[in-house]
Amino acid sequence: MQTVVTIKELSNHQDQEVTIRGWIYGRRSGGKIIFLLVRDGTGICQCVVEAKAGQLFETAEKLGQESSVIITGKVRKDERAPGGYEILINNLNIIGESRDYPITRKSHGIDFLFGHRHLWLRSRRPTAILRVRHTVINTTREFFNKRGFILVDTPILTHGAGEDQQSLFRTDFFGKPMFLAQTGQLYLESACMALGKVYCFGPTFRAEKSKTRRHLAEFWMVEPEVAFATLDEIMELAEELVFEIVQAVLSKNMEELTLLERNIEPLRNISRPFPRITYSEAVELLRSPATLQKLTQKMEQDKQELQSLIDKLTSLQIQFKTTQKEATRDRIAMQIEELREKISDIEEHLTNQPQHIASAQNFVWGNDLGGSDETIISESFSAPVFITKYPVQAKAFYMKTDPADPRVVLNMDMLAPEGYGEIIGGSQREDDLNMLIQRMHEKNLNPSDYEWYLDLRKYGTVPHGGFGMGIERVVMWLCGLKHVRETIPFPRSFTRSYP
Ligand code: 4AD
Ligand code: MG
Repeated sequence: MQTVVTIKELSNHQDQEVTIRGWIYGRRSGGKIIFLLVRDGTGICQCVVEAKAGQLFETAEKLGQESSVIITGKVRKDERAPGGYEILINNLNIIGESRDYPITRKSHGIDFLFGHRHLWLRSRRPTAILRVRHTVINTTREFFNKRGFILVDTPILTHGAGEDQQSLFRTDFFGKPMFLAQTGQLYLESACMALGKVYCFGPTFRAEKSKTRRHLAEFWMVEPEVAFATLDEIMELAEELVFEIVQAVLSKNMEELTLLERNIEPLRNISRPFPRITYSEAVELLRSPATLQKLTQKMEQDKQELQSLIDKLTSLQIQFKTTQKEATRDRIAMQIEELREKISDIEEHLTNQPQHIASAQNFVWGNDLGGSDETIISESFSAPVFITKYPVQAKAFYMKTDPADPRVVLNMDMLAPEGYGEIIGGSQREDDLNMLIQRMHEKNLNPSDYEWYLDLRKYGTVPHGGFGMGIERVVMWLCGLKHVRETIPFPRSFTRSYP
């Protein structure tokens, strides 16, 4: 009888014969011995064949990267093996051969990798990120479920803007225009009047015609909505959720965070309560001399770092020229590629930063915070920070006007620290029919397009509120990634839609 196990379970089977099923990740040969690295989605295992095995050895010698195999052999403890165990192969069955696998150990440009995303997903970095994503999503679902929230699926085909008109994707719905959902919120508001506490969790769409590091055209958003809730209650909920996600990732994904070279100290240091500042205070912060000084100092540091990276690059290039051994050359080439990327990032940052500083210093009360403003603010805090009460004109029509100050709305954005910026946006909703209609007019929306939504204010309106959290933004922050595109299996953005 074969005992089929996963690589993760090998430690339970020391000195026993087991069968594993997976793909050839890599191969090393040391003359009379071949080490096959096999991956099965749970881990990577070193499998050993010796020359005296004859036919088996010849087969192993010819196996191409990513060939699929079923291997039977004895599990042996070996400190030097990845994962601490190896398998001495008795039997090797090739299921599907693979020749000239396009993704090799050599370095590839990012466009090449995304063009081969269907295969690139098998590599260690993408799988690590997908595992963190899984923890984020799973923790989120459990968080709401154990608090008595009911999951309500909202439609993807919608009649119009849920956020803004500009970023709507238009589709042809049997000859009539309909639009891909920007948010489930409006429908969720009606569900919360039925069930009290609800949430939706699905793909949302924004036709963002820009190439930023934070925007996708298709992303996943979780949105809770609570009847009778005030802005403070909504912030409390958002804070508990994000704190719980951070703890879950720290406890379940250390291996992945290590592989991604994520410095976990900033995540470990996050504590509750998260700081809360108003938009007006944020504007003061942006304009302050202290901020100017801090940013100018930081630019000086960046310039020094740039110079040291350039020096490192030069020395690596010399090493590359003088090295003969192919494996070493490949490794150096990869380091060179990585360095070049880092250098070009810092150069780009240094080019843009004077303008970002200027726009922060000259920020006008009333404007929405831009990406660079969010970065500056979120670098000033070591935990996620809430910014509340934005100017009415900067925010969506459905946000409730602050009865104490009609220039602002009862909303909040949560910015992730380390410069990551907005991960959550939410508000108390306008529950007064006439105020809501007035806001629609101000935003050039036609109230008659929203009749069903207005009904919620006619038949037993109550204060209520909720928020939306972008899964990809959270994963980007927790994994410490530069770009949001790596956080979703198959990214859709202005510049990318294949495969
Ligand atoms: O701030 P947003 O636009 O808020 C809403 O859609 C509300 N209707 C949510 C609610 O109150 N129920 O989006 C919410 C979050 C943002 O904070 C961000 O994390 C993410 O969704 N997000 C994006 N993520 C990736 N790419 C984009 N283009 C995104 N736009 C928003
Ligand atoms: Mg927002």
